[in-house]
Amino acid sequence: MNRSAIVEEARRYVRRELESDRTGHDWPHIARVAALARQLAQAEGADVFVCELAALLHDLADDKIAASEEAGQRQIRGWLEEHGAPKETTAAVLAIIATMSFKGGGGAPMATLEGMVVQDADRLDALGAIGVARTFVYAGARGHKLHDPAVAPRGAMTPAEYRSGDGTAINHFHEKLLKLKDRMNTKAAQALAAERHAFLLRYLEQFAAEWAVGEAYDAPPR
Ligand code: ADP
Ligand code: NI
Repeated sequence: MNRSAIVEEARRYVRRELESDRTGHDWPHIARVAALARQLAQAEGADVFVCELAALLHDLADDKIAASEEAGQRQIRGWLEEHGAPKETTAAVLAIIATMSFKGGGGAPMATLEGMVVQDADRLDALGAIGVARTFVYAGARGHKLHDPAVAPRGAMTPAEYRSGDGTAINHFHEKLLKLKDRMNTKAAQALAAERHAFLLRYLEQFAAEWAVGEAYDAPPR
C-alpha cells in the first residue's frame, strides 16, 4: 500500500474504533490532532507521513481505551504490519505513541522531531475553548466537581495519582492545562499555545467572578 492509502485506511480504522468514545478521545479529537500534526510537521520540516499516522493512532494505546498500554501498542503494531507500513515507519510511530502521554508530569522528552510535533498537536487540543470543554466532559464522566476552593491543586503527580479519583475540573487547569504552554516542543506550537493559554486565563477570570457571587451569598454574616 502506498502512503496515502495507508493514511486513508488509518482514518477509517480509527474513526470506527473511537466512534463511541466518551473519554475525550473521540474521533473529532483525533481529526483535530491529525490536522494540527500535519500543519506543525510542514512548518517544522518533520516527516508528515509519520506525524499524521502517529497522530491518527495515538489514542488507541491509551489506558482509558485499550486493556493496557502494551495491548494497545501490540494492536497498533499489528495494524501497521498488516497494512504494509514500512518497518521504519512502524518503529517510529510506536516509539512516539509509547512516550507522548502527559500522565501527571510529562515523562521523558520526545526523542525525534516527529514525536515533538505529535505531542505538541495532542497538547494543543487540551488548550483553548475545546480544552475547556474536554476538561468538563472528563470531570463529569468521573463525577468530579466543577470547583471546590477547599481542594488545593495537586503538585507533581505519579501516573497513578494523575488518574486517581479526587480532583476538580478547575484544579485540572492548574495541575495540567496551564503548564502546557511552556512545554511545547516546537516554535510553531508555541505560538498557537500562547493564544490558547491566554483564552484559558480569560476563562478562569470570568469563572472566578461568577463563582464569587455564590461565595458572597454563602458567607456570614447574613
Ligand atoms: P493525556 O493523554 O494528554 O494525558 P488525557 O487522556 O489525560 O490526556 O486527557 C484527555 C482529556 O481530558 C484532556 O483534554 C485532558 O485535559 C482532560 N483530562 C485529563 N485528566 C483530567 C482530570 N483529572 N480532570 C479534568 N480533565 C481531565
Ligand atoms: Ni489525544
